[in-house]
Amino acid sequence: MSRKLITGNWKLNGSLAFNASLVEALRAGLSAPACSIAVCVPAPYLAQIGGLVQGSPIDLGAQDVSAHEAGAFTGEVSATMLREFGVRYAIVGHSERRQYHAETDAVVAEKARLALACGITPIVCVGETLGQREGNQTEEVVKRQLAAVIHANGHCISEIVVAYEPVWAIGTGRTATPAQAQQVHAVLRAQLKAATPQAARMQILYGGSMNAANAAELLGQPDIDGGLIGGASLKAADFLAIIAAASRLVA
Ligand code: PGA
Repeated sequence: MSRKLITGNWKLNGSLAFNASLVEALRAGLSAPACSIAVCVPAPYLAQIGGLVQGSPIDLGAQDVSAHEAGAFTGEVSATMLREFGVRYAIVGHSERRQYHAETDAVVAEKARLALACGITPIVCVGETLGQREGNQTEEVVKRQLAAVIHANGHCISEIVVAYEPVWAIGTGRTATPAQAQQVHAVLRAQLKAATPQAARMQILYGGSMNAANAAELLGQPDIDGGLIGGASLKAADFLAIIAAASRLVA
């Protein structure tokens, strides 16, 4: 089993003081973790947190990236700009972006393409709503979302990270069962296998109310290679407990 990837998604949270104390607590609690770790932070704090994580096992991530390289796109942040701040990962296509910012599969695919072109690993989020799950559309939805990214990225697809985040499990305290998550991860793995010979080593993360109590069981599933963690990534003790659970799973 390869190393897991544990990624925090801080969303619209943080302040200079909060960030400093959270990263300090994480650094103090990390002793040679056997998993990869990243925090995806609000854009204005990239410089601050880039400095705070320097020399630690924590990589820097962004929560979004523009689908444009430069020009008249007020409010956008390009992959080139992120790269200048040492960003290693960028979440793209989070359901909150799809829902509140009307991001389409094509836009998400283009964001992933531009991130890759700048040496940033896109964490491409896919996931169904509750209505879609109840309508037995889960597979169809996640496959359509991933297909757009595969189509736009050709052989580079092996360089992306995928995150399966059922929308009904995000921030609700309602987690997919390990079996439910594994089932969708296996579908996504099969889809990646048809696209690249590298699929077996690609990382497919689970996200949606992952916490210190349920992480070990979720991460123990054969096709769950890590976690994308919202709420629990804002509490050092909880995030450290998830990292410890992931570290224990390395063969
Ligand atoms: P949650 O968020 O862990 O708070 O459910 C996960 C996410 O939205 O990435």
